[in-house]
Amino acid sequence: MRFKLNRKMTKTISGFSKLSKEEKIEWLSSTFFLDKEQGINTLKQYWNPNTELQDLHDDFIENTISNFYLPFGIAPNFIINGKEYVVPMAVEESSVVAAASLVAKFWSKRGGFKAEVISTTKVGQVHFLFKGEKTEIENYFNAKKEELLASTDSITKNMRKRGGGILDIELVDKTDKLENYYQIHVTFETKDSMGANFINSCLETIAGEFRNDAIQIVMSILSNYVPECVVRGEVSCHVNDIDKKTGLEFAEKFNQAVQIAKVEPYRAVTHNKGIMNGIDAVVLATGNDFRAIEAGAHAYAAKDGSYSSLTDCEVKDGIFRFWIEIPLAVGTVGGLTSLHPLAKLSLEMLENPSAEELMKIIAVTGLAQNFAALRALTTTGIQHGHMKMHLTNILKQLGATEDQKNEIETYFKDKTVSHSAVVEKFNSMQKLV
Ligand code: MEV
Repeated sequence: MRFKLNRKMTKTISGFSKLSKEEKIEWLSSTFFLDKEQGINTLKQYWNPNTELQDLHDDFIENTISNFYLPFGIAPNFIINGKEYVVPMAVEESSVVAAASLVAKFWSKRGGFKAEVISTTKVGQVHFLFKGEKTEIENYFNAKKEELLASTDSITKNMRKRGGGILDIELVDKTDKLENYYQIHVTFETKDSMGANFINSCLETIAGEFRNDAIQIVMSILSNYVPECVVRGEVSCHVNDIDKKTGLEFAEKFNQAVQIAKVEPYRAVTHNKGIMNGIDAVVLATGNDFRAIEAGAHAYAAKDGSYSSLTDCEVKDGIFRFWIEIPLAVGTVGGLTSLHPLAKLSLEMLENPSAEELMKIIAVTGLAQNFAALRALTTTGIQHGHMKMHLTNILKQLGATEDQKNEIETYFKDKTVSHSAVVEKFNSMQKLV
C-alpha cells in the first residue's frame, strides 16, 4: 500500500487524494468497516459497469469511491401557461412524486398553472476595506467605473452576444455595519446559464482592476441571495370547482393554513420545507445547484424581517387563488446541465427550456407540493398518506404476496399502521396457511 498512517492518530492520513480508487477503498474499509469485505462489496455494487460513464461521475468531485443513488421519477400532467409538461424529479422521500402528479392532474382539469418570471437579475460583490474618507473612495470609484467595466470585456463578450452581461456596478458604503467596509455591488444578466463561474470571473477581474495600496480586497463572490431573480406561479378556480358541496369550506381552511405559515415561523419553516421537496427535486434532476436555491429561497422568505411562507392564498368572491413567489437562479446551459447524462435527459423531456421557462416549471412544482401537503394537512392529516406508503414498504420488506398485500391493506384501511401491528397481522395470516 502506498498510504502511510499517522502513528498517533490512526485515522489521519496524508497523501490520500493521490491514492487510486481501489487504494482509497482499501484504506477506508480496513480503518472503519466491521465487515471489510461486505463494505467493499457494497461500495463496488454501485459502480457503473460502463467505465466511461463511471469515469465521468468520478471526475465530478474529488476522492470518489462510489455512486450514491437517488430515485429519479417523473410527474406527468403538469399544464403551465397552457403547455403540457412531464416534470423530472430526483428525490428520496416517498410521496413527493405521487403528490406532485396528483396535484398536477387535479389542476390540469381546472385551467392548469399560470407562471411568469418577474425578474432575472443576479448579484455579485467585491467586499473590501478602505480606511480613508468616504468622498475619496467615491471619487476613485467614479473615475474608475468605466475601466472596471472594460476590464471584463473579454469575459463578457459571449454573454453580451446572447443579450446578457453586466447590468450595473455601484459602490456601497457599509461602514455603519462594519468599520471600513465597502462593496462594489455588481448586477448581472446571465440569460440561460446560472452564471456562477461567469459572475465570479467578472468579480475577480474587477477586484484586480480596482485594487490599490489603500484598498484591501477581502473577497469577490456572487451572492446566492437573488431577490431580483424571481418567478411567480399560481392556480385559481371557483371554490365550487374544487368541490360543489365542500369547496368553500375546504378553500377557507386551506387559506387559514397558509395565513398561519405567513405569521408563524415554526410553521413557515415546515411549510416551506414541503415546497422545497418539489423545488429541490426538479433542481437536482436538471443538474442545478439545490444548495444555492435553498439558501436563496429561505433568505427571501425572511426578507420582511421575519421568516414567512413562500406561498400565499386568497379566497374572495368565491374564487380560490393560491400562488408562490420565489427567487430561482437556475440554468439550462453549462455546468452539470450538459455534463450529467440524466440532467441532459431531464431538460430534453422538458423540451429544452430556457432558464426562464425552467424557473416557471420549478416554481409550480413547489406550489403543487405545497398544495398537496396543505390539502392533506387540513383534511385527512398527513399521516394517512404517509402510512399507506409505509405499509407498502413494510409489506415489501416482509415479502408479502399480492393476495396478502391486498388483504392487509384492506385490514388497515380503518386502523393505525405501525410496524409491529403490520408484522403481527402478517404473522397471524402465515399461521393460518
Ligand atoms: C414533509 O416532507 C413535508 C410536510 O411536512 C410539509 C408541510 O407540513 O407543509 C408535509
